[in-house]
Amino acid sequence: MSHTARQLKKAARIILVGAPGVGKGTQSERLLARFPQLASISSGDLLRENVRRRTQLGVQAEAAMQSGNLVPDSMILGLISSELTSKGWLKPSSSNSSAPNSSTASTSSSQSAASFPQISPTASFILDGFPRTATQATSLDALVPVNFVVQLVTPPSVILARIASRWVHEPSGRVYNTDFHAPKVPGKDDITGEPLTQREDDSIDTWKQRLRKFEETSRALLEHYERRGCLWRVEGKSSDEITPPAVRRI
Ligand code: AP5
Ligand code: MG
Repeated sequence: MSHTARQLKKAARIILVGAPGVGKGTQSERLLARFPQLASISSGDLLRENVRRRTQLGVQAEAAMQSGNLVPDSMILGLISSELTSKGWLKPSSSNSSAPNSSTASTSSSQSAASFPQISPTASFILDGFPRTATQATSLDALVPVNFVVQLVTPPSVILARIASRWVHEPSGRVYNTDFHAPKVPGKDDITGEPLTQREDDSIDTWKQRLRKFEETSRALLEHYERRGCLWRVEGKSSDEITPPAVRRI
C-alpha cells in the first residue's frame, strides 16, 4: 500500500469509535503515515503504560481493564486532558494540574480544568478509544471542538478471529497480527526490534465483556455526535476497505 504524505485541509480533531479489535489502532497508524501533521492519543495505550509503570492511576485502573470493564470517567478525563496539555495542544489559561499557577483560579479538579484551557488552533490529532461514553463526550466538548468522528463497523465474528493473533509493541502501541500484518521478524517490533507481547485483556472471555461494554455505552455516544453532525460511519470487513475512504474524507 502506498503511503503518500498529504496535507490536511484544516485542523482535524478526529475521534475513532468502534468495538474492541475493530481496528482503531490500525487505522490510527495508517492515518499518521498519510498525514504527518497528525499525532494520536490512544486511551488504552495510556492506561496500559500507567499499569506497566505501576502508577497510582495504573494500579486503580488495572482490575477494570483486565475484566473488560471501563475505567471511571473522571479517571480517563484527567488522563486525557493532561496528555493534551503536555503535548502543547491545550493551553492552560489560569490553572494547570501539573504546574499550578499561583494567581486567580485555585481549582484543581478535572472538571475545573475542563472549563479553562484553550485548544491550540492548529492542533490536529486522532483520539483512539476516547471518548467512549456520552459523559466523556460532553466533557471533551468543553475542551476541544471535535470535527470528525469515524465509527468503524466490522461484524464481531470477524473481529473475534483476529484477536488471538494480535501482537503489540507495548512501549509504542504499534499493532501487528500474525495473519494480517505480520512483523518483518516474527515476535519483534519492526522499528526497534524489541519483543512483541499479547495483551492481557485479549482472552476470549474478556474480549466478550469488552464488546458488551461497548454495546452498552456506544449508542448514547454515537447519538451525541450524530446530533452535532460530525459522525461518519465506515463499514468493512477489512481495514483495507476502510482506509481509502477515510483518507479521502480528511
Ligand atoms: P483499548 O486499548 O482502547 O481497547 P479496545 O477499544 O478494546 O480496542 P483495541 O485496542 O482492542 O482494538 P483496536 O480497535 O485498536 O484494534 P486493532 O487496530 O488493535 O482499551 C482497553 C481498555 O482500557 C478498555 O477495555 C477499558 O478498560 C480501558 N479504557 C480505554 N479507554 C477508555 C475510556 N475512554 N473510558 C473508560 N475506559 C477506557 O486491531 C485488532 C487486531 O486486528 C490487530 O491484531 C490488527 O492487526 C488486526 N487487524 C486490523 N485490521 C485487520 C484486518 N482488516 N484484517 C485482519 N486483521 C486486522
Ligand atoms: Mg487499540
